[in-house]
Amino acid sequence: MTVYDYSMSTVAARAGTEVDTAYNSMGIPIYMTNNYLFDNVSGGAEACRSPEFGDCYTRVSNPTNNELGKAMASLEGCEAGLPFATGAAATSTLALALLKSGDHVVCDDTTYSATNYLFSTLLAKYGVEATFLDFTDYEALRAAMRPNTRLVFFETPCNPTMKVIDIAEVAGIVKACGGAKDSGATGGDGAKDSGATGGDGAKDGGATGSDGAKDSGAEDSGSNGGTITVVDNTFSTPFITRPKELGIDIVMHSSTKYICGHGDAMGGILTGSRGLIDTIMDVGLKNLGGTASPFNSFLMLRGLKTLELRMERHCKMAMAVAKYLDGHPKIERVYYPGLASHPGHETAKKQMSAFGGLLTFELKGGMNAGVTLMDNLKLCALAVSLGEANTLVQHPASMTHWYVPEEARRASGITDGLIRFSTGLESTDDILTDLEETLKLV
Ligand SMILES: Cc1ncc(COP(=O)(O)O)c(C=O)c1O
Repeated sequence: MTVYDYSMSTVAARAGTEVDTAYNSMGIPIYMTNNYLFDNVSGGAEACRSPEFGDCYTRVSNPTNNELGKAMASLEGCEAGLPFATGAAATSTLALALLKSGDHVVCDDTTYSATNYLFSTLLAKYGVEATFLDFTDYEALRAAMRPNTRLVFFETPCNPTMKVIDIAEVAGIVKACGGAKDSGATGGDGAKDSGATGGDGAKDGGATGSDGAKDSGAEDSGSNGGTITVVDNTFSTPFITRPKELGIDIVMHSSTKYICGHGDAMGGILTGSRGLIDTIMDVGLKNLGGTASPFNSFLMLRGLKTLELRMERHCKMAMAVAKYLDGHPKIERVYYPGLASHPGHETAKKQMSAFGGLLTFELKGGMNAGVTLMDNLKLCALAVSLGEANTLVQHPASMTHWYVPEEARRASGITDGLIRFSTGLESTDDILTDLEETLKLV
C-alpha cells in the first residue's frame, strides 16, 4: 500500500512523501539532474530502452516528474500520468503522438486558443482534418463522427462563457458511434526511436505514473477501439470533476492554473490508461521534448497539498460574486454554472461537486463600462491566467481572444463588454467591496 491507495484528500496531501529513501525527507527531493549514473553497461542499456529499468535522461524520465505523474493519475482515477512543460505542450504532444495523416478530430467549438489553433490550423498542414461544433448539440456530435475519427476533444466548463458539456453523454455517443478499430491511433511506424535515449523496448514503468494493468496503446486506443476521448479538466480539477469515471480516456490539465495554484510555475499533465500514456511518452514526449522541469513538478506537488482547500475557497467566492453581480442594476448578464439561470446548471450539478472559481459577466454599458471597471478595481488584479491566490480580471475581447475574428467571437458569446473573473483566496468581503466601490464609477 502506498499513499496513492488512500482517498483523494490523503493522496493530495501526502503525494511525494515516500520518495526519499536515502534520507527519509518528508518533502520530495527536486531531482535537478539531466542524467543518471549506471552501475554497468548492461544496466545503462536497459535504462536507455525503458524507464521501467531505471532513469536514463530527464527528457524521458525523472523521479520528481514521475511522482507528479503518479499523484495526478491517482487523483484522476487513471492508471498513469505524465507531466509536461506547459498545458499546450501536453495537448500538442498528445495529438502528435496519437494522430497521423488522414485522421479526423472532432473538437468542441469553445476550447483554449492554442488547442483550437493546433487542431484547426497546425495539424491541418499535416493532413489531419478537424470538425468543430457545439458539444451540447448531441445530434451534431453524433453526425460529425466518422470511421476515421481518432480524437474527440473538449473542455468543460468552457472559457469564457462557462458552457458546461455533459461528459458522460459525449463519452456515450463516441462509444456508440464505433469508429475505426485498427491501431493507427498510435502514430506512424518507426516513430518510437529516440536517438538520445535508445530505441524501442518495453513501454511501461515508473516514468509515467501509478501502478496498474499495463496494456498497449494500440489496443486500448479508445473506448470504442479507435476514437480517443480527451477532456481538458483545467477549470474543474479532480476535486470537482473526474472525467475518467464518466467514460473519458485521457484527462488533460494546464497545471499552470489551479494545480500549481500560486501563479509561479507553468506545467501540463495528461492522465489515462497505462498504454495510452506510455505511447504518448514513447512516441511523443521522448521525441518532441516538452518535458516538465523537476523544479516545477515539485511546485505542482506542493500545490496539490492545498488544492482541495483552495478549490473550496475559490468556489465559495465565485458563488458569492456571481450572486452579487446577478442582482446588480449595472450588470447585464452573469455566466456562472452555479446560478440556476445558467443553461449548464443542471449538467453542472450532475458532474461537478462545486461550480468552479471562474465566472464571466457583461456590463450594461458594454466595452466602455467594462474598461472603466477594470481600470479602477483596486484589489482585483488586471491580468490573464487563472487559479491563483490573487483574484484576476481580464477582458477576453481585447486580451486573450483579440485574434479571433469579431464574428466568430460574438458567435461564441465573447462580446466586447464581457469580463472574466478568476476568484482568488482573499476575503470575499474585500473583493465584493472592491467591486461595489468600483461599480459606482461605471
Ligand atoms: C483551459 C486551458 N487549457 C489549456 C491551456 C494551456 O495551458 P498552458 O498555458 O499551461 O500552456 C490553458 C491556458 O490558459 C487553459 O486555460
